[in-house]
Amino acid sequence: MNKTPLSLIRAFVASVRKNGLANTLQYARTLAYDYFFDLRHGLDTFSWVARDALDATPADNDTASYQPTPVRPLRSLLQQLSLPRESVLVDFGCGKGRVLLVASEFAFREVRGLEYSPALCRVADRNCRRYFAQHSPDTHFQVLQSDAKNYPVREDETVFFLFNPFGAEILERVIENIQKSLADNPRRAWIVYLNPLHRDVINQVSDPAIELDYEFGGYRFAVFIYE
Ligand SMILES: C[S@@+](CC[C@H](N)C(=O)[O-])C[C@H]1O[C@@H](n2cnc3c(N)ncnc32)[C@H](O)[C@@H]1O
Repeated sequence: MNKTPLSLIRAFVASVRKNGLANTLQYARTLAYDYFFDLRHGLDTFSWVARDALDATPADNDTASYQPTPVRPLRSLLQQLSLPRESVLVDFGCGKGRVLLVASEFAFREVRGLEYSPALCRVADRNCRRYFAQHSPDTHFQVLQSDAKNYPVREDETVFFLFNPFGAEILERVIENIQKSLADNPRRAWIVYLNPLHRDVINQVSDPAIELDYEFGGYRFAVFIYE
C-alpha cells in the first residue's frame, strides 16, 4: 500500500482521535522501526498488500490482506517464551516472511512459511535469502506455496505462528490438522496467535494445557501450550 505524506498525516490525525496520542506515537515508533529494519537489511516486508491486490487468494472469503508482524513486539515475545533451541517454527500465512526472519534470530533449526499467494512467496523467499545470508547461516528456511488449511502438519514442527490470517472456519481446519499431528506424534508444542480474534476456536477444537496472554507495544499475543 503506497502512502503519500498527506495520507499519512490524515491517518495520524484519525488514529489520535481513535486511539489517543500516546498509543498513536507508540504505533508510529513501531512502524518507523520496521521501515528501517527493511532499509538496513535490503528487505521488502514493510508495505502492506490488500487482499484484492494479491495475485491469488483462497476461495474462502474470510482471509486476510498482507500485513506484517511488527519486529520488536515479536522479538520481545520470543525472548520471553524462550522456546527450545532447534525447534521448527511454521508461520501459517507467512506473507513476505517477516516472522521467519525475526524467528531466525532465536536458534530455530528451521523456519517454514506457508503462503497462498505465489507472488508473496517469491518475495518471502528473496527476503529470507538476503537476511539469512547476513545473520542466520545455521537456520534453514522453506517457503511453501500452500493453502494453510490443506497443509499436513509434519512431526518435527512444534511452534505454530498465526497473525490472524483467516477466519474461524479455516482456523478450525488448521487447528484440527495440528491436533491430529500431536495425537499421532505426541510432543510439546506452542501456538502463537497475534491479534487472536478467533481464540475460542482453539479451545473448542483442541485441548491446550496452558494458555497465556502477552502484550508488547500494544500488540496482543495469545500463546497456547500443548504437553
Ligand atoms: C496478516 S498477514 C501475516 C503475514 C505474516 N505471517 C506476518 O506476520 O508477517 C496474513 C497472510 O496470510 C495469507 N493467507 C491468508 N489465507 C491463507 C491460506 N488459507 N493459506 C495460506 N496463506 C494464507 C495472506 O495472503 C497474508 O499474506
